[in-house]
Amino acid sequence: MSDLLDFLGTAEQAVATAAEVIRTGLGRERSISGKGDRDYATDLDYAVEDAVREFLAAETPDIPLLGEERGRTGNTDSHYEWVLDPIDGTVNFAHGSPLYAISLALTQNGVSVVGVVEAPVSEERFTAALGHGAALNKHPLAVRGPAKLSDAVVAFGDFGVNPESDRRNAQRLELFRRLVPKIQRVRMLGTAALDMCWTAAGRVDAAYHSFINPWDVAAGVVIAREAGALVTDIDGVDYDTSATSILACNPALHRALLAEIA
Ligand code: IPD
Repeated sequence: MSDLLDFLGTAEQAVATAAEVIRTGLGRERSISGKGDRDYATDLDYAVEDAVREFLAAETPDIPLLGEERGRTGNTDSHYEWVLDPIDGTVNFAHGSPLYAISLALTQNGVSVVGVVEAPVSEERFTAALGHGAALNKHPLAVRGPAKLSDAVVAFGDFGVNPESDRRNAQRLELFRRLVPKIQRVRMLGTAALDMCWTAAGRVDAAYHSFINPWDVAAGVVIAREAGALVTDIDGVDYDTSATSILACNPALHRALLAEIA
């Protein structure tokens, strides 16, 4: 078995542990801590991150981890890094929406090589390892193929919520003004990890986020790519974790969408 499949097995176990933490905690009252303007984390975001950290520190002590809630820890000389969003879609989760997911990637020099995204409510686990394909609950995934913008369902990231987002939000509104008459439908799921996985599964044809953190998408990137999607930044450069924007879509749509977005 290749190293990457071994790492995928480790990532699946880590995410299964995380999903159990969520299931156990679901019936209890949530405590919420503010992180910024209209931005917060719940007690379960921290509990999940801590459980995954503990598991991976025991399994792969030489690989550092970047997590949304606790930052970067571990060996800074490693080319590998685990990248974790304990709950992607925290606002959905806190509102009782089922659209949230645990997202865990292994990156090598910033490129996603293993990804596991689990949506605990729908019991869907999306997985991929570079060169080994992508799967949903072990069934192979492939992107859908509309070649025309008019047939495309496109998912977008949330609007920014801090004062510095004003300019970016204005650009997003302008993009909607131009795109809405040309595409089939707009979707805004509120979880970038599932945006990537839903692109891989053909549930949406493209996903675009104008500002994104690596933990939101690192796992979904390899899942989407292994399902046949092109995943770049807004300049059309292959996405890696240093990018701040992301466009994932079936290759036939990529050029037309990028032209509209850029
Ligand atoms: C958020 C979601 C959302 C995206 C935001 C992210 P979080 O992640 O992925 O879809 O638009 O930019 O911050 O905060 O719920 O982990």
